[in-house]
Amino acid sequence: MNASWQGLLESIGECRRCRLCETRTHVVPGEGDPNARLMFIGEGPGRDEDQQGRPFVGASGQLLDRMIHALGMERTDVYIANVVKCRPPMNRNPEPDEAEACMDYLRQQFVLVRPRVIVLLGKVAYRYVLKQDAPISAARGQWVERKGVWFMPTYHPSALLRDPSKKREAWEDLKAARQKLVELEG
Ligand code: URA
Repeated sequence: MNASWQGLLESIGECRRCRLCETRTHVVPGEGDPNARLMFIGEGPGRDEDQQGRPFVGASGQLLDRMIHALGMERTDVYIANVVKCRPPMNRNPEPDEAEACMDYLRQQFVLVRPRVIVLLGKVAYRYVLKQDAPISAARGQWVERKGVWFMPTYHPSALLRDPSKKREAWEDLKAARQKLVELEG
């Protein structure tokens, strides 16, 4: 791991920029290939992630793993991170000031990983990464390009667990992400 990554992970590990640090068990910085072409961004750690210090390891993580496999990839081929790195109590949504306090870490992760395609999992990731406020049902499936990076908003895996009828659309979005990578990288 290079010095920039080490410095970033140390800063995240010691972070006290917002109140979420008071109730966390472990910080969940993110994990995967530090040079991944494809990145997934979720909302924030849940109970399992807080206990293990790893993103998407609970029920929604198992579904995300299956979706990554269905794309013909492994979890270790992509980079997975969240808008906030500490668990919001009772799994509530992050407050705007918590998301803003954490955003600089995600920006640094974008700079270090340099993904070509970023899948935004759910409304919270869509809202804070792209600063847009459309419902995820309207935003999903629509590419947003910023400085040569392609963002694909889609449903959060927990929404798919609650309502499996949304899985077909989410699968279309993931296939579009894979196709975009092929177009960009050959
Ligand atoms: N939900 C998220 O948004 N992120 C995780 O890491 C786990 C569940």
